[in-house]
Amino acid sequence: MAEKSKNRFYITTPIYYVNDIPHIGHAYTTIITDAICRYKKLTGNEVFFLTGTDEHGQKIEKRAEAKGIKPIELADQVVGRFKNLWKALNISYDYFIRTTQSSHEKGVQKIFQKLKDKGDIYKGVYEGYYCVSCENFISDDIPLEKEGNKICPDCGEQAGKVSEECYFFKLSAYQKPLLDHYKKNPHFIRPKSRMNEIKSFVEQGLKDLSITRTTVKWGIPVPDDPDHSIYVWFDALHNYLTGIGYDWNPELYNKFWPPDVHLIGKDILRFHAVFWPAFLMAGGFPLPGTVFGHGWWLKDKTKMSKSKGNVLDPHLILDTFGTDPLRYFLLREIPIGLDGNFSHEGFIHRVNSDLANDLGNLVQRTLTMIHKYFSGKIIEMDDENETDNKLKAEFITCKDKVTASYEEFAINKALEETWVYINLVNKYLADSEPWKLAKDESKKKRLARILFQAAAAIRTIAYFVYPVMPESADKIWALLGEEKSIPDQSFAELEFEDFKLGQKIQRTKPLFPRVELKDFLKEEEKKMDYLTFDEFKKMDLRVGEIIKAEKVEGTKKLIKMEVDIGGETRQMISGIADTYEADDLVGKKPIIIANLKPTIIRGIESQAMLLAAEMKDGSAIVPFFGDDVPTGSKVK
Ligand code: ME8
Ligand code: MG
Repeated sequence: MAEKSKNRFYITTPIYYVNDIPHIGHAYTTIITDAICRYKKLTGNEVFFLTGTDEHGQKIEKRAEAKGIKPIELADQVVGRFKNLWKALNISYDYFIRTTQSSHEKGVQKIFQKLKDKGDIYKGVYEGYYCVSCENFISDDIPLEKEGNKICPDCGEQAGKVSEECYFFKLSAYQKPLLDHYKKNPHFIRPKSRMNEIKSFVEQGLKDLSITRTTVKWGIPVPDDPDHSIYVWFDALHNYLTGIGYDWNPELYNKFWPPDVHLIGKDILRFHAVFWPAFLMAGGFPLPGTVFGHGWWLKDKTKMSKSKGNVLDPHLILDTFGTDPLRYFLLREIPIGLDGNFSHEGFIHRVNSDLANDLGNLVQRTLTMIHKYFSGKIIEMDDENETDNKLKAEFITCKDKVTASYEEFAINKALEETWVYINLVNKYLADSEPWKLAKDESKKKRLARILFQAAAAIRTIAYFVYPVMPESADKIWALLGEEKSIPDQSFAELEFEDFKLGQKIQRTKPLFPRVELKDFLKEEEKKMDYLTFDEFKKMDLRVGEIIKAEKVEGTKKLIKMEVDIGGETRQMISGIADTYEADDLVGKKPIIIANLKPTIIRGIESQAMLLAAEMKDGSAIVPFFGDDVPTGSKVK
């Protein structure tokens, strides 16, 4: 294959699981990727940005079952949520890959067959432990718990025992090739600290990897052996190939393969830095340039998780404060490799101090003065003096530093350097006291020069922040009367002097309104969806008595019941077969919501619902009243 041309840049995000709705962590990865893409385009690259969803596997299968819907229905719903969020966050992806699309499934099967023909895949039996939450086989070194289970060292969830026939991938054969590759390509894993972590993992020896399951139905069938479904990580990783046209769009594929950067969270580094290059070597594909593992966002210093209920919904912030402040905060607050802490106070401080005060005020003050003193158009001015020249020279220094930082994916550093310049411009304005000059008609041309310099500097500042805050940056250019938009200006050719006399400056309102804590709380309260007492009273809760119960055929979890709610009966479907046998339920007295709008589950009408506690593994425990409580009693 011909060498890929240097100015083509292919970058990916992980493909996100559809068991859960998107949160701030997913947003973070995707925003970093977007900023890098926008920068790469400014520097003359042809860019391809791939994102998408990981839709197969046991975790999705279980989640769909718990919701009483088909896995593909769950996927369709959640894909919509992801696409909406990417739109709201101004994410400029080129393609959204779904692992359930046939071009992907066929590509994965083709590669599976290829590796099997080559002898890198063989049949055997897997005996060990599996964490559904991470979709990961647990290492034999992890000790057993009392109940005979293991705890997943990555996420802390219970890992269950698996014993099944499967196909193995000869990962062990790739230990040496992988170590050689790391050695020859020190940038393959970034940041550097993570390279050492992966190297020592591989040095300890690699076991062959089970890459099919017989007990999981929701997956891509193994070619010619459809009792086996392909392991979700083998399936998912290949999205980076199928998403760029492997096996269906050779032109696109040849143009962009291999990826320049796989941007991922540190939680899934091993899959990307060990398994993935080994699969690719086996398949004879050129390897990606860099796997970049970024840090984790914590909420008020603790890990965000669904079970803790402290997962941050990005819409909450977007709706109140807008897209760019969120993008700015996430990218400015921490270097890409480190963990960050999300707190209301931290967000408020950053936005108010950096955006509202430093940048927002600078733009507004300058533009307002150009309006007030020159009716929005500077026509004539004094020549530059030493301080004016200095401001221009500082632009060149800043540009070099910003470029170097973006090139290193040190986006926080690029922003930091830009803010050094913003503060210089602010100081230049404060020191030259334009409002005093304005009182003296003879100083009018000097005043014009000062405001012109400030506006020219603002123009370059907007350009520097564009990858991170595209909407605000382009807005600033429009306010300055620029005819082209930022993506049409190459980074290399950006000059201070390109700002021209006579450009028609627009009036402006504050670009970044100040944020107050009460706005946050108000918004959170709205999202909490508090129930009023009147709404609660509308619920008809009663002690029901189960008079008939039978398993719904063809499902794992569902039980169909008839319940007496005090002289009346209701038919209902509940997902409680994990914990209860249908026969044992007859005569039991659960709490029933009697006036829930009827719905159809698996073709059967369900006219009520019982209350149950949801366990971590997705099973349900139902509280029952004793016989002393009469059937039909009201519960309040
Ligand atoms: O792992 N802070 O999908 P996933 C920062 N489907 N980033 C976070 C985060 C947090 N608190 N939480 C999640 C999967 N992320 C697989 C990937 S790729 C072939 C298959 C981000 O939905 C981070 O990028 O669990 C992490 O790697 C990713 O979301 C995991 O998303
Ligand atoms: Mg995850």
